[in-house]
Amino acid sequence: MLNGGMPFADELISAQYRSHELPGGLVLRRARATDVPALVELLAPMVEQRILVAKERVDYYEAIHEFWLVVEPQSDGTEVLAGCAACHVIWADTAEARTIATNQAYRGRGIGRILVEQVLADARAQGVQQVFCLTFETDFFTALGFEVIDGTPVSQEAYSEILRSRDEGTAEFLDLSRVKPNTLGNTRMLRRL
Ligand SMILES: CC(C)(COP(=O)(O)OP(=O)(O)OC[C@H]1O[C@@H](n2cnc3c(N)ncnc32)[C@H](O)[C@@H]1OP(=O)(O)O)[C@@H](O)C(=O)NCCC(=O)NCCS
Repeated sequence: MLNGGMPFADELISAQYRSHELPGGLVLRRARATDVPALVELLAPMVEQRILVAKERVDYYEAIHEFWLVVEPQSDGTEVLAGCAACHVIWADTAEARTIATNQAYRGRGIGRILVEQVLADARAQGVQQVFCLTFETDFFTALGFEVIDGTPVSQEAYSEILRSRDEGTAEFLDLSRVKPNTLGNTRMLRRL
């Protein structure tokens, strides 16, 4: 009988949510539901410029466990959100590195790199063998080992099942015409693990 295991359950969770200090007073940590308002605020200008796919607030809450954040703790106990990234698994061997964004004021300090590396580690831990992204930032992703690809790097059989997804990012991955107006000009890139 598996009883009396609760302290162990809490320990496992707190290990996963532990904050990791980075140079320059920054902290890398998993996102929590309470981070969604700051996430929406960070992403809004990039969504408006059509660099990132528009999503509902509820989409961020539903996917909050996929997100990693870099934050800068302030002396008053608050935090500034410096960047975010999410690892979204779509098939047995495939995940998307999505919603990779660095606050304009924090760019060029290595935050994007740390976040993508965290997403790749997350994908590896989940047994995934390839990570794709759809992006205008090809130089940034090339520096992180991604290569430009054509088409959709899954089998025909997987493709026909992934088609059943209702996720807009997944529709973008499949190159479905309903998301084309939002994705004009971005590049498909793949990183094998
Ligand atoms: C792409 C983005 C996340 C990079 O964030 P960042 O924190 O400034 O990136 P880093 O400081 O970690 O840069 C990592 C490397 O990429 C390079 N790089 C960063 N942005 C670059 C750019 N726009 N063009 C070319 N190279 C770039 C850096 O020189 C650095 O190289 P190095 O490690 O050899 O010095 C940021 O520009 C952004 O938020 N863009 C808008 C959102 C977006 O397009 N996301 C991607 C699709 S989900």
